[in-house]
Amino acid sequence: KKRIAVMTSGGDAPGMSGAVRAVVRQTIASGCDAFAVYEGYEGLVQGGDMIKQMYWEDVRGWLSEGGTLIGTARCMAFKERPGRLQAAKNMIAKGIDALVICGGDGSLTGADKFRGEWPSLVQELVEKKMCTAEEVEPFKHLNVVGLVGSIDNDMSSTDATIGCYSSLQRICQAVDFIDATAFSHQRAFVIEVMGRHCGWLALMAGVSCGADFVFLPENPPSTDWEKDMCDIVKKHRTLGKRKTIVIVAEGAHDRDLNPIKPSKVKDLLSNEVGLDTRVTTLGHVQRGGTACAYDRMLATLQGVEAVKAVLEATPETPSPVICIVENKIVRKSLLDAVALTHKVADAIESKDFGTAMKLRDAEFTE
Ligand code: F6P
Repeated sequence: KKRIAVMTSGGDAPGMSGAVRAVVRQTIASGCDAFAVYEGYEGLVQGGDMIKQMYWEDVRGWLSEGGTLIGTARCMAFKERPGRLQAAKNMIAKGIDALVICGGDGSLTGADKFRGEWPSLVQELVEKKMCTAEEVEPFKHLNVVGLVGSIDNDMSSTDATIGCYSSLQRICQAVDFIDATAFSHQRAFVIEVMGRHCGWLALMAGVSCGADFVFLPENPPSTDWEKDMCDIVKKHRTLGKRKTIVIVAEGAHDRDLNPIKPSKVKDLLSNEVGLDTRVTTLGHVQRGGTACAYDRMLATLQGVEAVKAVLEATPETPSPVICIVENKIVRKSLLDAVALTHKVADAIESKDFGTAMKLRDAEFTE
């Protein structure tokens, strides 16, 4: 009987609790024991009560909840081998031999590294007399399966990360609210949205809200962007628009990688276009609130698939990550997905924006 643990890690995202619910219930429905690791890798390192057996009713009502009800944390200890050794000991103490982790690329890479090191960690536990040879005997191999949870939608190989559509919905609501006041006063608003190095939230918000101009990290504006933006905004005004919305991704920069700050955009709109302009930083509002229908569906289908992947895995199977591609739930190699994700960052860093755009999901390639 397998004992499967689920954990959330990195920035929380709406739908993570739904993913935990799905993993717990599919595990139980498959005749296995389910566990939740509280507070991300921190809980794995601390062990004890931080790793709890979960029953069907423990996750009742979790489907619609925002954030993650089992907590998440940034954990320095797990980055060091002694922390991972302790984590391995704690998992063995609970009889856990499979880990489903819902998080961003950093969290998933950490999990795969843990899996790769597992045989040597187990050996070290015996050598250091932290466990006996008999205790570790059934734990020769650790199964790891990734679920991508992040509002940023910054993971390559999947069309949507768990949480991104809830966040986009939240941004659209906020921009709608701003629209009303902008229209009334004929003002301009510069709105900064999250996304770290990824422009998906900004681009989709721009499309969904009919923004006048959008700044993205993958596709920086022309070298003469100040003039271009002002000309476009002026043109929209001459066409009768009473409001101006400019969306700036938090990772936006120009073609020389100098950050494009909302305050600079505001000054241009005020001084060059003559608009009464305000800046709104949406901040963590974008990460909170209940999960939208799409994220509930995605979290549930992917959580179920993650447990199936655990049950079908062999020691030779590379760690999979559960993706959605053209509306199909599929398994891909976790390491390949992470490597492709890093390629986008590398392309941006080397100012190869054409490649960055091509590497992004279909939405970015026209
Ligand atoms: O990755 C999710 C995210 O919300 C990013 O969009 C943002 O850059 C970051 O996390 C903010 O992190 P923190 O909550 O630690 O400030």
